[in-house]
Amino acid sequence: MITTVTLNASVDKAYHMDRDIGGGEVMRVAECRNSAGGKGLNVARIVKLCGEDVLTTGLAGGFNGAYLESMLKEDGLRCAFQRIAGETRSCINILDPKFGSTEFLEPGCDVTPQEEEIFLTETFPAALRSCAVVTLSGSVPKGMSADIYRRLVETAKALGKAVILDTSGETLTEGLKGLPTMVKPNKEELEALLGETVETEEDCLRAADKLRERGIDYVVVSLGKDGSMMVCPEGAYVARPPKIEAVNTVGCGDSMVAAFAVGMDRNSDSENLLRFASAVATANALSSETGSFRQEDLDSLLSRTEVSKIR
Ligand SMILES: Nc1ncnc2c1ncn2[C@@H]1O[C@H](COP(=O)(O)OP(=O)(O)OP(=O)(O)O)[C@@H](O)[C@H]1O
Ligand SMILES: [Mg+2]
Repeated sequence: MITTVTLNASVDKAYHMDRDIGGGEVMRVAECRNSAGGKGLNVARIVKLCGEDVLTTGLAGGFNGAYLESMLKEDGLRCAFQRIAGETRSCINILDPKFGSTEFLEPGCDVTPQEEEIFLTETFPAALRSCAVVTLSGSVPKGMSADIYRRLVETAKALGKAVILDTSGETLTEGLKGLPTMVKPNKEELEALLGETVETEEDCLRAADKLRERGIDYVVVSLGKDGSMMVCPEGAYVARPPKIEAVNTVGCGDSMVAAFAVGMDRNSDSENLLRFASAVATANALSSETGSFRQEDLDSLLSRTEVSKIR
């Protein structure tokens, strides 16, 4: 079983507009779709599609929190969210003919130190009880400690779980100090983390090695359509997806994290682990829905994804 953590979940609202948006005007929304949003929830959807058992945990508050949980249940996802006093945020994505997508991301409500402590000492360990792998994804709401991911990583590792960390900025810098089993930065996140530019494959390898030297077993750098690189105890591997007509690349990183969790749970060897993760991530790019893929796309991509051992 796999547990996914979403500390800063949101009620996502997609506003579909039938004309261009402008400033200072009243705009009527042609169609509004609400969904349970958050990177850890994308991870959970993909784990479920891969056929594995998944539990989602995180923080949910107020009417929005209750709404979020009801949407998760409708999606068939088991959840063990901790109730907090603040209201779960909403994030709005306006889709119009002129600009495509314009997103408004609320910062998230304040989490109190007591709520953080309860999550760390009660909610999180309980959600880990039956899992082998846990994923920690996305941003952290206001009021939570910058080093919350470090403490969650340490807690999970002490309980013998494999941990995948996928976040950015200071949250990533701090979280890495807990030495997760796997980290999956994209190029921008890696550059910000190390304060250096990563241009070539050699740069990428060197940067991944630096993280490995800190004590992180699996370092994966994802490079969008150019594929990914993984440095791990067995060596270094590069995965190259076939050329595709991408439909929606949002959540490709989350899909990759989900597939890594599934592969780790199944004790896959490194080469198959990376091939599976790469193929699932690319299959997500072929689906218009975020955190989704078609089985036939995955089957076809598995045989067309090249994985080579470069060291
Ligand atoms: N256009 C594409 N064509 C083929 N594969 C893709 C494409 N975009 C993404 N992928 C696959 O998805 C993986 C992860 O994508 P990417 O590097 O964009 O992650 P990310 O920036 O973390 O995404 P996010 O955080 O939005 O989920 C890539 O390594 C690749 O295997
Ligand atoms: Mg990402």
